[in-house]
Amino acid sequence: MNYPELMSKRAQQIAPSPIRRFFDLAETMDNVISLGVGEPDFRTPWPIRQAAISTLERQSIFYGPNSGMLQLRQEIASYMERRFNLPYCPENELLVTVGGSEAVDLAFRTLIDPGDEVLICEPSFVCYGPLVSMADGVPVPLATKEENEFRLTAAELKAAITPKTKILVLSYPNNPTGAIMRREDYPEIVELLKDTDIFVLSDEIYCAMTYGTKHCSIAEFPGMRERTIVVNGFSKTFAMTGWRLGWMAAPAPIIEQARKIHQYGIMCAPMISQRAAVEALRSCDAEVDRMIEEYDRRRRFLLSRFAEMGLPCFEAQGAFYLFPSIAGTGMSSEEFCERLLQEEHVAVVPGSAFGACGKDNLRISYAYSLKHLTEAAVRMERFIAKNCK
Ligand SMILES: Cc1ncc(COP(=O)(O)O)c(C=O)c1O
Repeated sequence: MNYPELMSKRAQQIAPSPIRRFFDLAETMDNVISLGVGEPDFRTPWPIRQAAISTLERQSIFYGPNSGMLQLRQEIASYMERRFNLPYCPENELLVTVGGSEAVDLAFRTLIDPGDEVLICEPSFVCYGPLVSMADGVPVPLATKEENEFRLTAAELKAAITPKTKILVLSYPNNPTGAIMRREDYPEIVELLKDTDIFVLSDEIYCAMTYGTKHCSIAEFPGMRERTIVVNGFSKTFAMTGWRLGWMAAPAPIIEQARKIHQYGIMCAPMISQRAAVEALRSCDAEVDRMIEEYDRRRRFLLSRFAEMGLPCFEAQGAFYLFPSIAGTGMSSEEFCERLLQEEHVAVVPGSAFGACGKDNLRISYAYSLKHLTEAAVRMERFIAKNCK
């Protein structure tokens, strides 16, 4: 079989995730310390695991409703309202998905017609561009700037909008920069969008993880709820990455279309995870707060260590990433990461993996213990002292 000739050209044109390359290399080496993975190092809180165990003990695991268990949708609705001021109707405005990832994919497949442009604020998580392309849309990078604390400004948005713009992707708190959008950043952006036919995909997967300023969603603003799809999930907030559970919150006509795609492609999100997630939303606020306090401690530790080693770093206010600049080192982010891995066995991700505007940065995840971070910082400091003076 001539596979390249026979397989979908569109699929073949998609590049593999740039994050993977470094981890493949790291796996071949000994004594590597990684700050690369965006995954909580905490165990899933016990009440959640216990709910899963008791589900297995007491019940058969059958298919569930396509939209997700009603009881879970009710808990999600009450969580969104209680914590983030976003009221959604459990019956027809929520869809339970296989992680936030599936919700992002569904949003694009539900809204995009061929040739529609999707504005993606960069630096950004790696999935948006490829998923837009797979939906026959055109990803359009919209670079945010460190001098604006990586927040989107109305002027930048205005300059990027064309008659073909269909969706604006906002992803705050941001992976990889840790930037947040503040309430006062939105009114001018809302003013630009509210009389257009442009939708917003607001990926709020890190919304619980802010250090000081509380998360604010663009969907809260008058005129925005009807055009916004909010994506969220259990992976980060509740340390449940492998449970593969997330959700989409959107106006009923959007959910109705997205549900069909989900129904044919997935049937329903995993039922054990759904039952356990009910418990996550009901009884784990305190445990989540404890994890966030610990992330904050690590964030402050690394910021002060980077200052000591002369690595300029934007003071991230959310998620669990830092995005230090290596512009002064004379190396590209790929070269820096490759040499740091070879010489000191520390794996971090080049900022260029998250868009061209990240080419002078590194993404550092602090979803690792302080002990682990302390050792990584010692090695990085040694590398910088040796190579960057
Ligand atoms: C910004 C962002 N959105 C979505 C996801 C996907 O999360 P999941 O599919 O595990 O819910 C991630 C994972 O790293 C992410 O960083």
